[in-house]
Amino acid sequence: MCGIVGYIGKQKAAPIILEGLKRLEYRGYDSAGMSIMEKGKIVNFKAVGKVAELENKVNGKNISGTLGIAHTRWATHGKPSDKNSHPHTDCARQIHLVHNGIIENYQELKDMLIKKKHKFTSETDSEVVAHLIEEFFKKPASTRGGSSTRGGNNFKEAVLETLKLLKGTYGLAIINKNEPGKIIVARMGSPLVLGLGHGENIIASDVSAIVRHTDRVIYLEDGEIAVVEAENYEITTIKNKAVAKKVTKLDWSVEKAEKGGFEHFMLKEIFEQPHAIADAIRGRLVAKEGMAKLGGLRDVADRLRSIEKIVIVSCGTSYHAGLVGEYMLEEYAGIPVEVEYASEFRYRKPLLSKNTAVIAISQSGETADTLAAIREAKEKGALALGIVNTVGSTIARETDAGVYNHAGPEIGVASTKAFSSQLSIFVLLTLMLGRQREMSLTMGKRIADEMNRIPRLIEEILQQKNIIKKIAKKYVDYKDILYMGRKYNFPIALEGALKIKEISYVHAEGYPSGEMKHGPIALIDKNFPSIFIAPKDSVYEKNLSGMQEIKARGGRIIAIATTGDKHIQKLADDVIYIPKTLEMLTPLLSVIPLQLFAYYVGVGRGLDVDKPRNLAKSVTVE
Ligand code: M6R
Repeated sequence: MCGIVGYIGKQKAAPIILEGLKRLEYRGYDSAGMSIMEKGKIVNFKAVGKVAELENKVNGKNISGTLGIAHTRWATHGKPSDKNSHPHTDCARQIHLVHNGIIENYQELKDMLIKKKHKFTSETDSEVVAHLIEEFFKKPASTRGGSSTRGGNNFKEAVLETLKLLKGTYGLAIINKNEPGKIIVARMGSPLVLGLGHGENIIASDVSAIVRHTDRVIYLEDGEIAVVEAENYEITTIKNKAVAKKVTKLDWSVEKAEKGGFEHFMLKEIFEQPHAIADAIRGRLVAKEGMAKLGGLRDVADRLRSIEKIVIVSCGTSYHAGLVGEYMLEEYAGIPVEVEYASEFRYRKPLLSKNTAVIAISQSGETADTLAAIREAKEKGALALGIVNTVGSTIARETDAGVYNHAGPEIGVASTKAFSSQLSIFVLLTLMLGRQREMSLTMGKRIADEMNRIPRLIEEILQQKNIIKKIAKKYVDYKDILYMGRKYNFPIALEGALKIKEISYVHAEGYPSGEMKHGPIALIDKNFPSIFIAPKDSVYEKNLSGMQEIKARGGRIIAIATTGDKHIQKLADDVIYIPKTLEMLTPLLSVIPLQLFAYYVGVGRGLDVDKPRNLAKSVTVE
């Protein structure tokens, strides 16, 4: 979490880094701050709240410096306040730095530095880094040489010595008043990208803050440090060994990251789903062969044929996609599948072998727990695969092979289009693995033909947006909602509940509808409505019985039902219809009204649905 941006070049740095920060705000928005090298001094601004607050403080100040760093924070240590906002400084205020990650041994380091008379001004873990650099400036220069500003180590040496002492994760950008022509950045566990311009360079936590300026980027790896100047950059390991880095050309556009006329990114992204799904399957779904071809898995095709077990690791919405994937893969590809929260997997003793494929699902490709899980899987000899949306992200790079979602940038904190594209990739994977095993050509063709219709069917659901908005209005003031579904739609009940929790702060629980009588029914009364996902599928009758039981106890019901189902109107207070499709594909449709419902409840409650409280888009800390 937290977003970092830095600029060095010939333009005024402040507007560039403020604009970059806004694009990174999805990573955290508790507070923001920036430091600019200005006429031989470093000026520093901080504000609690969103980047706009910081912008208000900076506006009218006529800051002309051409080097600066900035940060948007998601608090880990210390509450959101000016003093805890980044950039942090050393005692002499010579070093200014921004940090994303957690310094796990900060208390120990802080105690040591306090004994050496360092004065701390914040409660953060990050501040120790600035004081450590200050401390290493004082130490005699190492044999590596280089100019020193205080008779001790030079800037890079002091940073290198500091990094040796840090335990935990960091993406760091550091500037030094006495070496005004450089930004030093270092990465361990938190993403950092260097954007290469002409006579200017920009660094950021991800490319969304860079695309406006250049399409040429270098992704730093863990254990790398870069000294970035306006015309130059030098990348080494933190052991100071030179590394040759590949320059990647981005295919993102600024427009893709804009709201495009919608009131919120979330709404835009909900409406982008027909396209996102079409992009996910384009060129991959071969309907006439009832097959899917996934270029990203070509290199591991032989190993995939002999896979005996699949373990899916992910978090949040991506975890729910994994649950749907489990149902698909077991039913149609006949491969045993386990789905695990990545945060649990990394601390268990998972039983993996070389015939196990571990699939990490991640929109951002930077989720710390998912990344750790995939590293653990590789360590144990499993085949590590990724279903990742963000091209060039750490999980995408560290997995043995994988499939990109091609959903485009997802900015709203609540994941929507990434989820439906993850489901689409699972359909492709099921076809590919299923057809290599028992699945018949006829079945393969049926699934592929139906999958091709899904984007159009989603368009039909989206056309009901005003109906859903009206229904949502009726439920704006409820404090609790129970979401229920069965079989393929049980994970959708979980996802629907997560969506409304995240953006509307409504307490919601997702349950398999068969579990209702084992506890949750006790919650039901007229103030505790239920949403039943009850399309005409193999468990339709079972869902109807559940609805009867809720009705008998005075509970209100919203049903997600198959178009034409009149009977359900007798049991539900409100019905939202979705078109008929294959049972395994219904999650791709049933999730859409639940996303819209959550969105309209959130908006109806006057909330900032794109930036819900306490959340960050990308959870890069444990
Ligand atoms: O980027 P990832 O898919 O790895 O993120 C996983 C979760 O943090 C994410 O899905 C989170 O639950 C979203 N806020 C859900 O809307």
